[in-house]
Amino acid sequence: MCGIVGYIGPQEATPIIFEGLRKLEYRGYDSAGIATLTDGVISVRRSEGKLVNLEKLLAEQPLAGALGIGHTRWATHGRPSETNAHPHQAGSIVVVHNGIIENYLGLKERLQAAGHCFSSETDTEVIAHLIDSHYRANGNFETAVRAALQELRGAYAVCILCREEPDTLIAAKLGSPMVVGLGEGQFFVASDIPAILAHTREMVFLEDGELALFSGRSCRFSTIAGQPLEKKPRHIDWSPLMAEKGGYKHFMLKEIFEQPRAVRDTIAGRLLDDKGDVYLEDLRYDDAALQSIRRMVIVACGTSWHAGLTGKFLIEEHCRIPVEVDIASEFRYRKPVIDQSTLVLVISQSGETADTLAALREAKSLGAMNLAICNVVDSSIAREAAGVIYTHAGPEIGVASTKAFVTQLSALYLLTIRLGRAIHRIDAAQGARMIAALRMVPGLLEESLALNPATEKIARQYLNARDFLYLGRGKNFPIALEGALKLKEISYIHAEGYPAGEMKHGPIALIDEQVPVVVLVPKNSAYEKTVSNMEEVIARGGRVIALVTAGDREAGARAEAVLELPTVSEDLDPILLSVPLQLLAYHIAVLKGTDVDQPRNLAKSVTVE
Ligand code: F6R
Repeated sequence: MCGIVGYIGPQEATPIIFEGLRKLEYRGYDSAGIATLTDGVISVRRSEGKLVNLEKLLAEQPLAGALGIGHTRWATHGRPSETNAHPHQAGSIVVVHNGIIENYLGLKERLQAAGHCFSSETDTEVIAHLIDSHYRANGNFETAVRAALQELRGAYAVCILCREEPDTLIAAKLGSPMVVGLGEGQFFVASDIPAILAHTREMVFLEDGELALFSGRSCRFSTIAGQPLEKKPRHIDWSPLMAEKGGYKHFMLKEIFEQPRAVRDTIAGRLLDDKGDVYLEDLRYDDAALQSIRRMVIVACGTSWHAGLTGKFLIEEHCRIPVEVDIASEFRYRKPVIDQSTLVLVISQSGETADTLAALREAKSLGAMNLAICNVVDSSIAREAAGVIYTHAGPEIGVASTKAFVTQLSALYLLTIRLGRAIHRIDAAQGARMIAALRMVPGLLEESLALNPATEKIARQYLNARDFLYLGRGKNFPIALEGALKLKEISYIHAEGYPAGEMKHGPIALIDEQVPVVVLVPKNSAYEKTVSNMEEVIARGGRVIALVTAGDREAGARAEAVLELPTVSEDLDPILLSVPLQLLAYHIAVLKGTDVDQPRNLAKSVTVE
């Protein structure tokens, strides 16, 4: 999830682009760069690290020109470094890109065979070379861009310049966001509104498969295939702060709504439908190594630990490998029983959590195989683990983890398939079925987000409760824990998650007409048992909020409030169920007036023991 900015007009491009990138730094901050085109010369400045490094470089080596493109990066393919930073240039062409090109390896091989030399590990450089190869063949910038874009699979928002066209900027998008700002004789392009709001409030939103061509003082919109389009500008009246949060009141809500995109990016380029398998580019263990695993230990903290608990169910069920899940701060001090046949999987959004990092080091010192699921590229955990599966949630700013969690669940599902295929517990047909189910998840997440207004209504109803109970079974028990954690950390209401069947062994004593009980009861193999547990709550006067599968009239019939979720495979229910639980916690917290994005006493990354 990177940020891009482009400018064409009478002003100096670099300050406008740089300020735009500053507003987009929330989208990524591991490297940045700007290119301008003036007097037939493309000049590029790039630097690793935060924008301040680029700022220093620009102070030493200024960039002139009234036409330019810029980028702030959140690494997906290729580690953060100056060479992997955008813009990427190939011959006459220079490009910035946000997204993931799924077929970049095949294209790269073809271009290399045709004599193109690559200098980075990125998927983006392929775009520059591909356009350049078409440009060399036909000598027309616009035609070359259209031809190249039609060869790309995956997601992109791109801004492109051509050395021989000193007055032209082309932008296009498929799957990644892009907005065009219309100024007086000047145009702005960006991944998001805040980047250009200081210059114009008249904006055109590009849709997937659309292209904008800016030439001198005019602008034309068309499909990538070339069909002209009429696009109406919208007037954006957001304040700058609202704009930074995408018009949402809080980063947390914005991040909840980003979840379909986050899961889409996490699975993009990794699903091998025809083989019923999964490609995990940085796993670094081959089939033979995976076959030597006798046991797994998953170690993490907080929300990431909850993801790990769900992972245990997936891996044990499909791969028949015993899995233990441990809290990192416990694991490191309890002299864990581990050897070379144990795979230790650490899960961390930030990749910097001190306890999880220490647990990884402990596992390594004991000779275990080790792997990380991580959101931040090149973070300490990602660097130190032997293998890594990156979640592509993008930077998570709200302290309460939301989009990172659902991408961790997605990554665990991917790992289950890879492991199951390697050890022959999952055959190609089953792998293909699992992949087909996963492909539906981003769309179903969109549907689950439609529960937002209903969830807000429920939040109003239960806002004054002092305690909440969350119940779930099997793979959804950890989701009950996660729902309770979300509520307590941002609303400061006491909440507990419990395995539904365990309630009668103690917590049932807590139930009276004051206690809302959130029951996760999708139509799955534990459905009937969970319905019985729900009845036990109702019989004691408990106020049930039931999360059910759409169309299930039975489970919701006696609940006080019901939220219906789309049907999905049992393995993927945890992902969809997470959405209304996040929204419920969010709305209760907002109604109570707490600081949702930065709840008291908490930090986004816990780098102390
Ligand atoms: C809760 C939350 C925390 C983190 C925990 C681990 O919403 O965000 O519980 O999950 O501090 O952090 P990471 O995943 O960065 O290791």
